[in-house]
Amino acid sequence: MSAKPLRKAVLPVAGLGTRFLPATKSMPKEMMTVVDRPLIQYAVDEARAAGIEQFCMVSGRGKTALIDHFDVSYELEATLKERGKTEALAQLQQDRLQPGSITTVRQQEPLGLGHAIWCARTFIGDEPFAILLPDDLVLSKTPCMAQLAQAYKETEGSVVAVVEVPRDQTNRYGILKIGEDDGRLVEVTGLVEKPKPDVAPSNLSIIGRYVLMPEVIEHLSRMERGAGNEVQLTDAMAKLIGHSPFHGLRFEGERFDCGDKVGFLEAQIAFSLARPDLAGDVRRFLKKYT
Ligand code: G1P
Repeated sequence: MSAKPLRKAVLPVAGLGTRFLPATKSMPKEMMTVVDRPLIQYAVDEARAAGIEQFCMVSGRGKTALIDHFDVSYELEATLKERGKTEALAQLQQDRLQPGSITTVRQQEPLGLGHAIWCARTFIGDEPFAILLPDDLVLSKTPCMAQLAQAYKETEGSVVAVVEVPRDQTNRYGILKIGEDDGRLVEVTGLVEKPKPDVAPSNLSIIGRYVLMPEVIEHLSRMERGAGNEVQLTDAMAKLIGHSPFHGLRFEGERFDCGDKVGFLEAQIAFSLARPDLAGDVRRFLKKYT
């Protein structure tokens, strides 16, 4: 039996973005730009490059700019057309989503990432689904979600993107307990959310890219509280282990934590250096400051 195709993605976007105040006072943090594209656009583009067609944003109050961003802006498009700005117009049309392919639900209460995913249960139904946390940005030759989708095809089970982190940072991430490891795919034998360095089962951490089996929703629906007294996705994922294949994928590419100021600034530099239209100028001005 071949695995069901991966067609759906959940984008948790309910967070307040307090680490970036005042920038995020009246603007969703997912609208912050790296070079000239908002974080949410990178997440959607990456999912589309993996063949994903349907999106659900799990949002909260004050996040309507995210919905508007993927809608048609008639006035803007008409003005660009009138002024002959065909390139900008084509880019806008390419960036937006097909009518009916994006839906939103509200999380209502900040009870954790696991609770956010559970809020999308009707959208998920009984299909495997992807999760992309827009704060995590990946610069790679093959989009990270496409790499995960490929690994899902191979393993026919859950796959999470993983990176090695310094031991003293295990308490910031979901950490893997690992079994067989071929250097690319790692068998997951256990998962712990934000363990202290001395008890962490490894230093292999989950980044914000997942392909999960829909059974995770049953485990989430028990609303058991974990680290930080939140409903943790990691704890529900751990309950899938042993029932269906579960792997970590050491993906090709570099991850930037854009929920952190330094990570966000680093992403600006790396993404602008990866842009042929900007790299030369950026290299020149960087010399001035180093
Ligand atoms: C969440 C997850 C964690 C994961 C991280 C990746 O944590 O709970 O397991 O490693 O995203 O960015 P958060 O960043 O929401 O604290």
